Amino acid sequence: KVLVFDFGAQYGQLIARRVRDLHVYSEIVPCDISAAEVAQMAPSAIILSGGPASVYAEDAPSIDAGIFELGVPVLGFCYGHQIMAVTLGGEVAHSEVGEYGPATLACDNDSALFKGTPMEQTVWMSHRDAVSRVPEGFVVTGRTDVCPVAAMECPERKLYSTQFHPEVRHTEHGQRILKNFLFGVCGLVEDWTMDNLVEQKVAEIREQVGEDRVILALSGGVDSSVVAALGARAIGKQMTCVFVNHGLLRKGEPEQVEEVFTKQFDVDFIHVHAEDRYAELLAGVTDPEQKRRIIGTQFWNEFFAVAKQLEEDGRPVKYLAQGTIYPDIIESGARKTGGKASTIKSHHNLIPFPEGVHFDLIEPLDHFFKDEVRELGLALGLPEHIVYRQPFPGPGLAIRIIGAVDPEKLSILKDADAIVREELDAYNQRLFEETGERNSEHSCWQYFCVLPDIRSVGVMGDERTYARPVILRAVESSDAMTADWAKLPYDVLARISGRIVAEVPGVNRVAYDITSKPPATIEWE
Ligand code: XMP
Repeated sequence: KVLVFDFGAQYGQLIARRVRDLHVYSEIVPCDISAAEVAQMAPSAIILSGGPASVYAEDAPSIDAGIFELGVPVLGFCYGHQIMAVTLGGEVAHSEVGEYGPATLACDNDSALFKGTPMEQTVWMSHRDAVSRVPEGFVVTGRTDVCPVAAMECPERKLYSTQFHPEVRHTEHGQRILKNFLFGVCGLVEDWTMDNLVEQKVAEIREQVGEDRVILALSGGVDSSVVAALGARAIGKQMTCVFVNHGLLRKGEPEQVEEVFTKQFDVDFIHVHAEDRYAELLAGVTDPEQKRRIIGTQFWNEFFAVAKQLEEDGRPVKYLAQGTIYPDIIESGARKTGGKASTIKSHHNLIPFPEGVHFDLIEPLDHFFKDEVRELGLALGLPEHIVYRQPFPGPGLAIRIIGAVDPEKLSILKDADAIVREELDAYNQRLFEETGERNSEHSCWQYFCVLPDIRSVGVMGDERTYARPVILRAVESSDAMTADWAKLPYDVLARISGRIVAEVPGVNRVAYDITSKPPATIEWE
């Protein structure tokens, strides 16, 4: 495996992604990890990320010098380049002019790092400090007009570094440079492939579970569906998938989930029809947070009731499977305290286990990024409508109905939402065919309807109507932290509005939410 030392929030993630794109397994570790801990993890290579600090700043992150003595090849970028230089006895100087954006690198292509790339190439720079003297035993292998040590190396010790960022797309030969390091210098092989991983995960689950029973809360979302599909392959009916139907999913969705996991995958599938219980609990509730609390609490009530029933039926559950993915773990910071054990505990705490209930956790996706989870899903044979499902909030349509939820409003919202999905799925598909990218710049990331608690006047045929408006919400985003309202073509908007008013009784108006996040949020509640 390749360890990526993270010297600044998010810098490591992109590098880890690039390494995995080359089918080599990589893992992010905090930069203050000790040489002894690294030795224990026995990596085949180390990459030092960039970071926002200056190496001479007071609280600048440093690196355990022992790491360079382990005999493990190291590649440093930007801050990683500078920290390698100062730690090994070189010097970094402040410079007056920074270097930001594209730069022309002149490199020595007899360096193993630049093999097969031109002697002049465009690289992406973002720095003010620069290495002014290389450590003993190092040679300079690349330079730009502004930066005399844009790349350096000590091939005997397999230590390499660059001031520029090979991980960003703007560095013309970045992927080749990374390949040269991983395959040329370190002699790694491409074994992080989805087919291998399916086999590996299946074997791991079998080994961990043995003859015991596993339970999974299956929501129909991508992550829990992939866990279910993996479980089906590994342990079949030893896995009970509990699908709690709160009646707040989108039109047709419960039927689709049931179809996939009863017909295509051989798990023990339990469809809990909790629609009436939820309707009763939510009656008259208008506060969004109270809705969330009610829905969340009831979910676990329903789920644990099934676990209890299994126990009473003589099929006790030992393991709880969860669709935790790698970014959840990195972001929770759990790895910072070292090792998997602490991670598992931190996730454990999120689930309100009732008194006396205990499960061991299985988290087969805890090393995967989201798009790897999708690839894994496809490799397992999950249908595209699940694998590419748009994000959908746990509390479902309840937080898209402003004010109290009732059956009439739910029915209107489901019908309007189904039209929006049909039209914008088709729109996204057209963009995919044009660009070849599933999540291209302008494809809609999340799209749905909101039903406000008001009425408006309209005229349909010869009659005045006093009916409901629906609000269309469609955003472009990559992580939901920020979002842009989608600049949908007018003809697409016109079709959606025309169809909703014509096909959904009780609706006489469609409005489009043209607010980005921030200042708005994606959902209305
Ligand atoms: P906001 O509305 O905060 O939403 O911009 C950001 C993303 O989170 C989703 N979301 C939720 N997901 N439970 C969830 O599981 C919730 O209570 C919840 N509220 C918002 C939302 O759909 C968007 O993708």
